[in-house]
Amino acid sequence: MAESFLKALSAFVGTEGIRDRKLTQAMGLLSGALTRLTPADEESARISQPVVDRHLNDALSAGVGTPVDLIRSVVGSVSWIVPYPEYAGEPDMDAMRASYAFAPLIAAGKDSFKDDAVSAVSGPYLSDEVFVGLVLQGPNCDYPSHVHKSEEVFWVASGTADWQRGDDWRVEEPGGVIHHASGVRHATVTRHEPLLMLFAWVTDPHCTPVVVRH
Ligand SMILES: [Fe+2]
Repeated sequence: MAESFLKALSAFVGTEGIRDRKLTQAMGLLSGALTRLTPADEESARISQPVVDRHLNDALSAGVGTPVDLIRSVVGSVSWIVPYPEYAGEPDMDAMRASYAFAPLIAAGKDSFKDDAVSAVSGPYLSDEVFVGLVLQGPNCDYPSHVHKSEEVFWVASGTADWQRGDDWRVEEPGGVIHHASGVRHATVTRHEPLLMLFAWVTDPHCTPVVVRH
């Protein structure tokens, strides 16, 4: 991952913290962490996933704003991972996992993510403070309600989707920014387009999300 990406990301994070006062504290945490990254020792093999092969190009073509510029500048050198292996065999999560992948950019060490096909995957930069990456959620995909300790921000590069926060549902479009405080229940249901996002967990980067069953 080029130094130029980190510079561009830092600049973007700085402007986001000024643009939206609700993001100021989160962007302050992220900005600080970006000055304390360690490059990963070795490059992971690049891994793709079926949802990426099927939808990434369309999602990139439809992208808007600085987030898609940032994504375009690194997407050729990332590995994609399907989350929630511990939920395999549960029908709703199997459906979600067939159409969802994330790519770590700044993350904890290699042992953080295990992929079925390859032994382990890391992001190109290591941090114990934040977790930053890309997400691709395919069309007509229901990512059920879940919670995690991490405070989370998503920047939507492309794709209109229905979003839950707490008990409320709303629509978020490309250019949208979604902020979840620690422990807030949230869900994402895509429509007819893939959803491509940049995300940051600005606290508790090691935590494991838990799906909320009703
Ligand atoms: Fe989340």
